[in-house]
Amino acid sequence: MELKEAIEKRRTVRDFQDKVIPGNILKYAIDNGFKAPTYNHLREWDFVIINSMENKLKLIESERLDQSLDANTLEALFRNEDEIMKEMYLEAIPKQKKMILEAPSVVIVVFKPKTRVADAKRIYDLNCLASVWACIQNFLLSLAEHDVYGVTFIPQNISLIKRNLGIPEELEIASIIPVGYKAENAKALSQKSVNVTDRIHYEQW
Ligand SMILES: Cc1cc2nc3c(=O)[nH]c(=O)nc-3n(C[C@H](O)[C@H](O)[C@H](O)COP(=O)(O)O)c2cc1C
Repeated sequence: MELKEAIEKRRTVRDFQDKVIPGNILKYAIDNGFKAPTYNHLREWDFVIINSMENKLKLIESERLDQSLDANTLEALFRNEDEIMKEMYLEAIPKQKKMILEAPSVVIVVFKPKTRVADAKRIYDLNCLASVWACIQNFLLSLAEHDVYGVTFIPQNISLIKRNLGIPEELEIASIIPVGYKAENAKALSQKSVNVTDRIHYEQW
């Protein structure tokens, strides 16, 4: 597949079919993840693949996703926001629990931090986070190539998740990514369109 085609095809998907992803497709995407640029040349990343309901439930409990907001409260919260952004949040927020439970696999992307996130003072201190996101993008594009999609969920209670899943304390979690084949009724959200020419600045802003 052409790179451009995979880039166009990749979208965030939160509704999945009940269909297992062949291990070789996940392996291919992880292999390509490891080709991403990395700030210290070391590619200090790990992938934890969760398939069991038991461990998906642990994630949901750690993130307290069982507490949901009703549609009216959500509507009120986003009433003054950009319409396309609002459409996305009203679609996404109620699905945070369901997408973890229904995805055939949930992939946890782990990285070794240089500076602890809490101690970071400069963008430079976050090079490890920037690098793991380059890896995540390769991973998502490579899944899209095989009609597999994901949603990058950012956990809040990382210490608890690490403890529950035996991930070493000194490592960080960049994202929890439910992945799977797109459900037939998955809603297609508009992507915010950008006039790229306006965003390119030559010599000076
Ligand atoms: C850093 C980052 C954090 C995100 N966090 C979440 C999240 O917690 N839950 C969720 O459903 N989607 C999350 N997303 C997905 C975005 O909502 C999605 O990428 C965005 O709406 C653009 O849509 P697209 O990926 O289909 O182009 C996140 C994406 C990024 C890059």
